[in-house]
Amino acid sequence: MAGPLLLTSAPLRRRVFFALWPDHTVAAALHETARGLWSACGGRLMRRDTLHLTLAFLGEVPNAALDRLSRAAARIEGAPFVLELDRVGSWHGQRIVWLAPHDVPAALSALVGDLDSALEAEGFALEARPFSPHVTLLRNARSAPPATGPAAVRWPVSAFALLESVRGVGVATYRVLGSWPLAGK
Ligand code: 2AM
Repeated sequence: MAGPLLLTSAPLRRRVFFALWPDHTVAAALHETARGLWSACGGRLMRRDTLHLTLAFLGEVPNAALDRLSRAAARIEGAPFVLELDRVGSWHGQRIVWLAPHDVPAALSALVGDLDSALEAEGFALEARPFSPHVTLLRNARSAPPATGPAAVRWPVSAFALLESVRGVGVATYRVLGSWPLAGK
């Protein structure tokens, strides 16, 4: 990453996670897909500026841990890849509607594996649940997504990011704390 983490003053603990964070074009395409599904399924449409694919969820960490997170991320030597998000599905009795890749690129699996190892080496305990790459598009949906899915969203990935989830009144916003390139091995 170029430069230090983008921290402002304030909280002693932050709710953080590593994710793929789309550029404007990909976020717009994801948002279009989400809007189409929303008209079919109802529920709460995720805002365009919150769409992402989680790689590793840390939860609440003290500010003092952010340097270790940054160190872990800087050790990753991942390769860029293209994600074809071509699979719509739902969880939790259909309430969470998501978009996912049918074929998970080997470089994405390697990125998550390397990130998990680097985080564990820095002393972070990760969730035991297996990685299931997805972009959440709707919450509290009223019906399952239609059998005929939307057009695939093509997402060229060349970096990953550390995000902070900031809880406002009724809404969460996400802030990029740092970003690291996937420059190829
Ligand atoms: P979700 O989209 O499936 O809800 C920020 O909360 C991001 O971290 C979300 O993308 C969320 O996934 C993901 N996440 C993974 N594990 C989580 C957990 N235990 N609690 C909250 N969010 C989690």
